[in-house]
Amino acid sequence: MQPPEGVAAGSAGAARDSPALPTFALLVPAAGAGTRMGGVRKPFIELRGRSVLDWALAPFLERPDLVEVVVALGAPPDRRLPALQDQRVRIASGGSNRFESVANAFDHLESGAGLIAVHDAARPFPPRAAIDACLRVAESGVGAVAGVPAVDTVKRTGARGVIVETPSRETLWCAQTPQIFPRDLFARAIGLCRTMGGPPTDDASMVEQLGAEVRMVQASNTNLKITSREDLAVAEMLVAKGLAG
Ligand code: CTP
Ligand code: MG
Repeated sequence: MQPPEGVAAGSAGAARDSPALPTFALLVPAAGAGTRMGGVRKPFIELRGRSVLDWALAPFLERPDLVEVVVALGAPPDRRLPALQDQRVRIASGGSNRFESVANAFDHLESGAGLIAVHDAARPFPPRAAIDACLRVAESGVGAVAGVPAVDTVKRTGARGVIVETPSRETLWCAQTPQIFPRDLFARAIGLCRTMGGPPTDDASMVEQLGAEVRMVQASNTNLKITSREDLAVAEMLVAKGLAG
């Protein structure tokens, strides 16, 4: 079966081969309470010798086209995290939901970077090829969302769990981060969300509400989000086997 149509990561050329790169800023929501892990602040969990946040930021911080990072935190970490010592990184206050944290981080931007990337602190292994590919798409003036084609059949249910729809899997993707947008589009999307109320499911859906084009970029299953203890075990195994990081 063919995967749904999207942009293949790596197909747009590696950043280091491009001579004139536009700059980008990165917003990192990291202020969640980790309720589904029993109240553990996931960005500060130790994963094979470094924090999940350090893992998550590393593939971005190695890029010269990244000019600014704003990390939204609920409270300071209890130890020194190397990624937070980078000169480009600053801290903003987290909000009461993920959207508020992203919006607060956006308000703290100081650079004039033309592209805005958002990446969850709870996602330790953003693939370098997907970052490159999302940046190339965003440079062309449209939004880009890393993700993977759905492998499970998805059901929509009504009352009592009764299935009301089985959408065609060929068109379904699971959205991840990074999600990268032209700055003006992202600014308008945040403004619209603030006036309309109701936090969006992800950053792209805000831009979609503007009627602007947003494209899926194929990433990888290794780009997992740590939600539960099982995910942490998988993440440990991926590092141990050299499959991620
Ligand atoms: N996040 C945030 N501010 C919030 C809620 C979430 O910055 N008020 C961040 C989290 O820190 C995480 C990302 O958004 O990096 C994705 O959220 P999720 O995986 O849901 O993490 P938590 O909200 O911490 O977990 P839970 O929903 O289980 O409480
Ligand atoms: Mg949450």
